Amino acid sequence: MGWNITQDSQLGIIILAAGLGKRMRSAQAKVLHRVAGKPLVSHIIHAVQRLHPERLVVVVGHQADAVRQACDGADVRFAVQPQQRGTGDAVLAAQPAFADWQGQVLIVCGDTPLLTTATLAGFVHDHRTTRATVSVLTARVPDPADYGRVVRTPDGRLSRIVEARDASAQERRITEINSGIYCVQAAFLFPALRALRPDNAQAEYYLTDIVAQAVEAGLSARAVVTQDAGELGGVNSREDLAAMEHTRQDQLRKKWMARGVTLEDPQTVYFDEDVTIDQDTVIGPNTQLKGRTRIGARCRIDGSAYIENCQIGDDVHVLFSVVLSDSQLADRSSAGPFCHLRGQAVLAPEAEVGNFVEVKKSVIGQHTKAKHLAYIGDAEIGRDANIGAGTITCNYDGFRKHRTRIGDRVQVGSDTTLVAPITIHDDVYIATATTVRRDVPAGALVFNPRQQHTREGWTAAKRARETDKQAEKKDPDG
Ligand code: UD1
Ligand code: CA
Repeated sequence: MGWNITQDSQLGIIILAAGLGKRMRSAQAKVLHRVAGKPLVSHIIHAVQRLHPERLVVVVGHQADAVRQACDGADVRFAVQPQQRGTGDAVLAAQPAFADWQGQVLIVCGDTPLLTTATLAGFVHDHRTTRATVSVLTARVPDPADYGRVVRTPDGRLSRIVEARDASAQERRITEINSGIYCVQAAFLFPALRALRPDNAQAEYYLTDIVAQAVEAGLSARAVVTQDAGELGGVNSREDLAAMEHTRQDQLRKKWMARGVTLEDPQTVYFDEDVTIDQDTVIGPNTQLKGRTRIGARCRIDGSAYIENCQIGDDVHVLFSVVLSDSQLADRSSAGPFCHLRGQAVLAPEAEVGNFVEVKKSVIGQHTKAKHLAYIGDAEIGRDANIGAGTITCNYDGFRKHRTRIGDRVQVGSDTTLVAPITIHDDVYIATATTVRRDVPAGALVFNPRQQHTREGWTAAKRARETDKQAEKKDPDG
């Protein structure tokens, strides 16, 4: 999608992602914490990339390698801020990447996951059309909390930004907040940053101070008020993170409903950012759709499902209460209730896996059924086979995993153990309660000869003996 930005000068973007995020109380850098399954920093990268900047620089510092990895695949350059000395110092760290730069620089923080491309595009457009030196995106909010306050002159012009902890009581009552998003002429930006002084409560170099510098120099500094304050929310604490997650989940629920997916109880369905679902799929309550899960059309997910990185075809029925991960369910297959597919389990079309069945790294062939109580690991099963209740593939000998191959139309009787490596060819019948240790040729019956012993009248005799013993205990002298 392209955004119509006046192309009078180049656009560079700096994302600040070097901070530790003390208030998160975490061993992990703040921008690595996730909303809708994606690190905060990748949310903002996604939003700014669609502005098609000529240059995109992410400033890293704290846990730099991990943050770089979280930006994996994105066309970005990195700048390193060795010590986290404040937001102004962070932007200065990106200067080498802008040595030859003439245009405008959009600065955003790595911790604002809800920001949209549309809002940023409007802001950049405003900055360019008004030919401002510095523009800052602001919002009026009922509870300005810890955000920087936007101080204006009596006639309403931008004067400076003051951090909450440096603000006077009167300034703290200001309800217009700094979003931490700026658009600045590069020619002004970097010299202004070098003039910053850390004379504030945190002894940090505040990026916000460039506003007062521009005003004092008689340059044009503008505060652009956005109506959609919700988008500007930054994550500073776990509570903020939960609030962003909540908002993003609501947005994703609306998005999928708008695209023709029924959510029976929307508030209890959770989406990761990269999940996709086709039309007329119905999703029941308590469903979590994670990672790169794709769900086709006209599927039914009954509910209480945890589905991660799965490819689900069309007309698939996922019955109540399942865990499905890294697996494929082809068209018209079904899984559940109470089953676990993992590690590249594949259900071919019309395959059915049911109650208390675990499938790992196995292919269940077309129209094959394993409907009750089974463990199928490292197996390939052909089509139209039936796997009886209590079937176990013994795939692990304590050292290595071994494969089980089962052909087409094989009937595996209940309580069968298949000791891998083993091949059961087509059209085999395995009798109930068989331990299969050697390959079975096509069309054979296989069973373990076990004699059945029947002792008539045994139960009554046993009960009589036990009753006598109890009577002796109670009355030893008889
Ligand atoms: C900042 C603003 C505040 C604004 C708020 C909006 C300053 C001084 N304050 O405060 O006015 O209302 O954002 O969300 O700018 N970072 C670095 N290196 C550093 C420090 C921070 O890269 O040395 C990065 C952080 O990783 C983060 C971003 O800059 O992504 C903002 O830092 P943060 O500490 O969250 O600033 P706030 O206190 O929220
Ligand atoms: Ca912040």
